[in-house]
Amino acid sequence: MYAAVVHALGEPPRYATVPEPAPAAGEVVVEVLAAALYPLVRSFASGGHYTGAAALPLVPGFDAVARTAGGELVYVPGLEPPHGTMAERIAVPATALMQLPDGLDPVAVAAAVNPASSAWIALRERGRLRTGESVLVLGATGNAGRAAVRLARDQGAGSVVAAGRDPEALRRTGELGADRTVPLTGPDEDVAAAFGAAAAEADLVLDYLWDRPAELALDGILRHRTDLARPLRWVQVGSAAGADMTLPSAWLRKADVHVCGSGLGSISGARRNACLRELLDRLPSLEPTTEPVTVPLADVETAWQAPVRPGTRIVFTTPAAETDRAAGTRRRAASAEGAGARETV
Ligand SMILES: NC(=O)c1ccc[n+]([C@@H]2O[C@H](COP(=O)([O-])OP(=O)(O)OC[C@H]3O[C@@H](n4cnc5c(N)ncnc54)[C@H](OP(=O)(O)O)[C@@H]3O)[C@@H](O)[C@H]2O)c1
Repeated sequence: MYAAVVHALGEPPRYATVPEPAPAAGEVVVEVLAAALYPLVRSFASGGHYTGAAALPLVPGFDAVARTAGGELVYVPGLEPPHGTMAERIAVPATALMQLPDGLDPVAVAAAVNPASSAWIALRERGRLRTGESVLVLGATGNAGRAAVRLARDQGAGSVVAAGRDPEALRRTGELGADRTVPLTGPDEDVAAAFGAAAAEADLVLDYLWDRPAELALDGILRHRTDLARPLRWVQVGSAAGADMTLPSAWLRKADVHVCGSGLGSISGARRNACLRELLDRLPSLEPTTEPVTVPLADVETAWQAPVRPGTRIVFTTPAAETDRAAGTRRRAASAEGAGARETV
């Protein structure tokens, strides 16, 4: 069978033949339909992820939408390298599979889950958002940040402030539910002042950026906050701007600031799976915040290196996805015909 295969860390994967998966005890083989490419997948494939580098060659891909031998549509969460999801077939612990309602578009689900789950877990599990609270999303113009704006609003935030770099994408966060925006462009003192004006009373920060934007945000907030003893919960989710930030000790003494992270190691596998299940159950009613760009897995090497249009996410599809889509169309047509016939009777 075919898979995307990384032969050297930092190089793009090639579409190559690999042995069929050999399921261990408790594992089943599923047919992959769609697997998305996002920062975590790239980080694993480059050997740069904080959980450690994997052996080579490796098959990239962290999650996927797949079809079981019994015909169920399933979501496959969290396969770490070297046995990732960007292959025609994969072996997965049977208990890890999460059933999806048939009829969901595998590509749309594959594109949505990573950004939406980052926000879901950060808001609910790590940030413990309470109804009416004020949320600041740092990095609101990325896929995960946009999902965070939308989900914060859906989950009862009283106000949502979106901070980001790209002016047009930042403006469009209003359509997702942001009440105010903070542009991350301009001199540092202007950016800090803008945070002070828009987000001084934030209860919860979802930080996808870290580094300088986080420094300016916290500085601006603490300078203008009316009650410094009111808790400020800062959830570190991503580091799109940089891996390090300077955190003056005085900032942690002069205000009630709580910093925690939200990532693979910061909650148990069981809690993560429970959060994913909650999110998957809501997916059909959630308006998408990421536009999928479908690419055949055979083109993985080129697509991996191509520039990605903002607001979009590459989703690789296997040959089985096309067959699956055609079968779904036939099933829907047959059931519509059946319904028509019943109405006529
Ligand atoms: N812990 C988790 O559970 C989890 C899950 C998903 C993602 N993440 C992390 O969250 C981050 C964002 O992920 P994503 O999926 O949203 O990625 P993405 O769709 O590629 O978006 C990344 C965004 O980062 C912004 N950015 C990059 N450098 C910046 C800088 N110096 N200052 C301000 N903005 C900057 C860009 O904003 P502009 O377009 O405005 O330039 C871009 O839109 C990544 O670090 C990712 O690894 C973590």
